[in-house]
Amino acid sequence: MDKFDKSIYEDFVKENYGSWEEFKQYCVELPKIEFHAHLNGSITPKTMNELIEQRKGKEPDLAGFAVKKLIQPNFQLEDFFPLFNTVYRLTDNTESIEYITRNVLKEFAADGVCYIELRSTPRQNLEKGMKKKNYAETLISVINEINKKNDIIVRLILSIDRKASLEEAMETVNLAIELKSTGIVVGVDMCGNTNGGEFLRIKPAFHYAKKNNLSVTLHVAEIPNCREDNLNMIEVSPNRMGHCTFLEDDLLKWAKDNNVAIETCITSNIICRTVKSYDVHPCIEYMKNDQPFTICTDDKGIFNCDLSDEYLIFGLINKLNKKQLFEVSKRAISYVMDNDIKLKKQLETIYNNFSKKNGFLIEK
Ligand code: IMP
Ligand code: ZN
Repeated sequence: MDKFDKSIYEDFVKENYGSWEEFKQYCVELPKIEFHAHLNGSITPKTMNELIEQRKGKEPDLAGFAVKKLIQPNFQLEDFFPLFNTVYRLTDNTESIEYITRNVLKEFAADGVCYIELRSTPRQNLEKGMKKKNYAETLISVINEINKKNDIIVRLILSIDRKASLEEAMETVNLAIELKSTGIVVGVDMCGNTNGGEFLRIKPAFHYAKKNNLSVTLHVAEIPNCREDNLNMIEVSPNRMGHCTFLEDDLLKWAKDNNVAIETCITSNIICRTVKSYDVHPCIEYMKNDQPFTICTDDKGIFNCDLSDEYLIFGLINKLNKKQLFEVSKRAISYVMDNDIKLKKQLETIYNNFSKKNGFLIEK
């Protein structure tokens, strides 16, 4: 938000929300659905420092491990992926995974997120007794604990790193198939460094996931000039697609015709410089063209944002009033990966209660 010239929006904010504080408050209270949040990118520096404090006694190398300001001036996408080398040192055992998952989910709940499909890449560290399956089971166990509290509803997407071999990708898909019966795992994702190799290599794993009734989301067109990859990805018929900042018009049309939502991550794109400025973010065109999309954080810990901020920014650059912003948020219900009818009803009730409280007319 710092990059905004707030002064040009003063009249709009006053007229529609009263003040900036009331606007932010509204965005926190608004029920929100988060579809694109990477666990290890969502950890706040505070939680990282807590992990260092907890572990430095037994692991002295962590004592000199200060969590510096993650985003330095002139930061860009190439600077982003190496940050995870540091983060992963701190989350290399199941106790730490448990700790970060609980904190991250509580933070989303406190920000008014009513439903989240958290995603994470199962990792192993055999020295510390962590296998990919333990990793995923640790997440599921914390998610079950959080779901019981009724503050937020949580589901899990298992991510596959773009640089994985086909064998590794299949291993994660098989894990997701096995854990689907928990009712928590709903799909798989493809993420990771955009220089990590061609999608074609691991494409069969995603066809296999779909055949086994898992939903699929893919990081698509985060950078320019990746037409071949984009075409291969669309051939898998993903249920949703992340970023799409450089997606060509014919493929945007495919997404619209097939009601495939784009998981748009405004702050992430601005900080990684894949979009020049807020006022030219593709979400403005999505809004005008009735393109299916949802608003997401990507890596709230690294980018120092939260979902209510993203809604505020979205509302601002699209000049939306309270009811219009509510409608954008509510539309996300149709893109939930969990097809359970009871869950959809539950989410509709949450939104309808908010609508009534705010005196919005309910649209059929
Ligand atoms: P994890 O899957 O919980 O370990 O979350 C961190 C991982 O998410 C990183 O190692 C990246 O592979 C991936 N990731 C986070 N943000 C992005 C993004 O914007 N593009 C592609 N991959 C991402
Ligand atoms: Zn992402």
